[in-house]
Amino acid sequence: MNQSLGIMTLTPEVTNEYFLEIAKQSLSYPIDLYLFSPQGISPLNETVEGFHFDRVTGEWEKDAFEIPEYIYDRTYYQKDMKSRQARAVVQWLKNQKHIRFLGYGLPNKWHLYEKLKQTSLAPYIPVTSLVADGKHLLNLLLKHKDIIIKPVDGAHGFAVYHLVFNQQSIVVRTTKKQGIIEQSFPNEDVFLKWVDHMLKVHTFICQKRLPNLTKGNAPFDMRILMNKDHKGEWREFQRAIRQGEENGILTNISRGASYLSYSEWKDTQNSHGWDFIDEELTSILEEVPILLEKHFSPLFEIGVDLIIGDDHSLWILDLNSKPGHKVVDALQPGKLSTLYQAPLDYCDFLSSQSLSSLRRGDF
Ligand SMILES: Nc1ncnc2c1ncn2[C@@H]1O[C@H](COP(=O)(O)OP(=O)(O)OP(=O)(O)O)[C@@H](O)[C@H]1O
Ligand SMILES: [Mg+2]
Repeated sequence: MNQSLGIMTLTPEVTNEYFLEIAKQSLSYPIDLYLFSPQGISPLNETVEGFHFDRVTGEWEKDAFEIPEYIYDRTYYQKDMKSRQARAVVQWLKNQKHIRFLGYGLPNKWHLYEKLKQTSLAPYIPVTSLVADGKHLLNLLLKHKDIIIKPVDGAHGFAVYHLVFNQQSIVVRTTKKQGIIEQSFPNEDVFLKWVDHMLKVHTFICQKRLPNLTKGNAPFDMRILMNKDHKGEWREFQRAIRQGEENGILTNISRGASYLSYSEWKDTQNSHGWDFIDEELTSILEEVPILLEKHFSPLFEIGVDLIIGDDHSLWILDLNSKPGHKVVDALQPGKLSTLYQAPLDYCDFLSSQSLSSLRRGDF
């Protein structure tokens, strides 16, 4: 009998290219593929309304079905009611013993920090504070002069602020659709009012701004997409440099940054010291997924964001359990079919695992 794998997203659209490509690949696997939203689930009779990929027509067809045994979670939550309800349903799903998620996700940036700073990765984790109130943030700014604040549950560069203190004033910069906007505060009181307002909207963490600017004053970082192969072993799938806009703050592709290949980018840099950086990178990347799974829960793929400082220091800036995949299309389209096969391979692997434990009879 075929396995069932459901791709779960808040907006199940039959036109989504990534999902459709996985679906086409699924025809060579003993896997029936589904696409649905947590909102399509009725927990009462444990059925879902969504789409199933028809193995004859090769298209997504509207359908009602049992909750698939395996779930590939690609939900991105926001703050609205719809997201809140969906989150509750997904929590319920994760607690169902007969349902297996390919990956169970990661906690927010603050919880991640608190755990990782106690591990062997600590030297690579930038010191981070949870902003308690306006005075606390002001003290951090007076101490460090140049800082970044961002929401604990932020994503895609949303609400990332760059704060600079100089003798005359406090300058706050952030990225809006139209580009960078800047506001300066003439005195502490006005600044504190602004912070109080911001803290009502989000919970923020604060870090020193890391030195990640190119000679042309564009921020850049390194994005590494890692996933598991058909044996359930971690591999580095794609490495890229993301370069943001001149004088910008963000390196998020959704905010206008672009991908460069790591090797091409390296060629444009001072060659000195790269072997050492590469070795250090390799050992960090070996450790990251293992530590995350040890301290949190099983994962299928992650996006690791690293900053290479101007002094060649390496910093793990961010870890994402629902990374984007466009980087492969941008840099190595020859690997796309392997990318689309990955969730199917891993699903296959998981089901062979549960079969062998059934045969062994250990429960
Ligand atoms: N401490 C820092 N120093 C320099 N730049 C930073 C710092 N923190 C964040 N940035 C910039 O802001 C961008 C967004 O930060 P971060 O990756 O932490 O959050 P996010 O992208 O909003 O979340 P997610 O990656 O989960 O979607 C980074 O890619 C980086 O360019
Ligand atoms: Mg990020």
